[in-house]
Amino acid sequence: MFGNLETLPPDPILGVTAAFRADPDPRKIDLGVGVYRDENGNTPVPAAVREAERQVLAAQSSKTYVGPLGNPEFNERIVALALGELAGTLRERTATIQTVGGCGALRMAAELLHAASPGSVVHVSDPTWANHEPLLGNSGIALQRYPYYEPATRSVAFDRMLEHIEGLPAGAVLLLHGSCHNPTGVDLELAQWRAVADVLERRGVVPFVDLAYQGLGDDLETDVAGLRLLAARLPTLLLAISCSKNFGLYRERTGALAVIAENAATARAITTHQARIGRRMYSMPPDHGAAVAARVLGEAQLRRAWQDETVAMVARMKALRALLAGRLAGRRPDRDFSWLTGQRGMFSLLGLAPAGIRALCVEEHVYVPPDGRINIAGVSDANVDRVADALVRVLERR
Ligand code: LMR
Repeated sequence: MFGNLETLPPDPILGVTAAFRADPDPRKIDLGVGVYRDENGNTPVPAAVREAERQVLAAQSSKTYVGPLGNPEFNERIVALALGELAGTLRERTATIQTVGGCGALRMAAELLHAASPGSVVHVSDPTWANHEPLLGNSGIALQRYPYYEPATRSVAFDRMLEHIEGLPAGAVLLLHGSCHNPTGVDLELAQWRAVADVLERRGVVPFVDLAYQGLGDDLETDVAGLRLLAARLPTLLLAISCSKNFGLYRERTGALAVIAENAATARAITTHQARIGRRMYSMPPDHGAAVAARVLGEAQLRRAWQDETVAMVARMKALRALLAGRLAGRRPDRDFSWLTGQRGMFSLLGLAPAGIRALCVEEHVYVPPDGRINIAGVSDANVDRVADALVRVLERR
């Protein structure tokens, strides 16, 4: 039956974790998969999340099915976290389903788009997260890329991006990263979000926001200012939410897809399709992570403690950016590394040639994905000099 299947190459990001684990060299450093790490290299469960888990388990008297849309309290609270006061205004027009992580939300959105409008095209940034195209495209929806990043200046190629959107037909879909652009670390400024909103509105293009890092760029509010601006103005918006990074719930696969529709009747219809898509793929989402996130958001004390923990994560990542930029500049005063500190979130693109990226993994035992992205949270006081030495050695490899 399966004899004709060829062995596939490793996943570009998850394969880095496997290669790192298989490397016996004690000097190895993992700057691959995007998970937050503390100074000891661990990915902790935030204390507020641990406490919420304890409370959820203590109060849980049954494990009967929740339902295809998942936990209603979670759905309401997670959308309110993203949209703020707008969530109330838009409630009747919003169709939300709890999903199997942020990936599940993205795929659910693609399936929904494909069902509603099979000819529509989703435009993704160039570059984008390595799994966006496989994950969305596998639903059958067509994909194209829009210019996003200018490697020479390490900034948003904004004029070219806008020009691309200007040329889109009504009904095209534009996938935007809510904050902490993956893999570049370069986000739109608020004025740029405003300019994008103008064009989307004029052209009838539908925004689709991937919100995987709320609270890990600047803070929980600033990181969604662009999203809120779009949600307030555009008649239709898709929002894929992940709780993996900000709640540290990675393996619990906790996320949501919220679709803001033109009117309440359409939102109600969307809900039935969301439920059917989920039912046909996996029936229902897992409960635990959503129940925990709902409790964190619903209990004032837990919520405050969790917010403080996100603030600490941001402070640590900003400090690591400055630390690494300083160590690199110390080794190569002829080059500018200040761009590292201007970027947000976990990721930066090093701008290495393929030979440099290969040498970094194979010779230096510093593991990064094939696009040369680094997870800044993988740097620590203990390894920063080794990271800087290794980077400097491969910088000019062609
Ligand atoms: C990443 O970009 O490394 C994370 O979003 C994890 C993943 O699933 O790829």
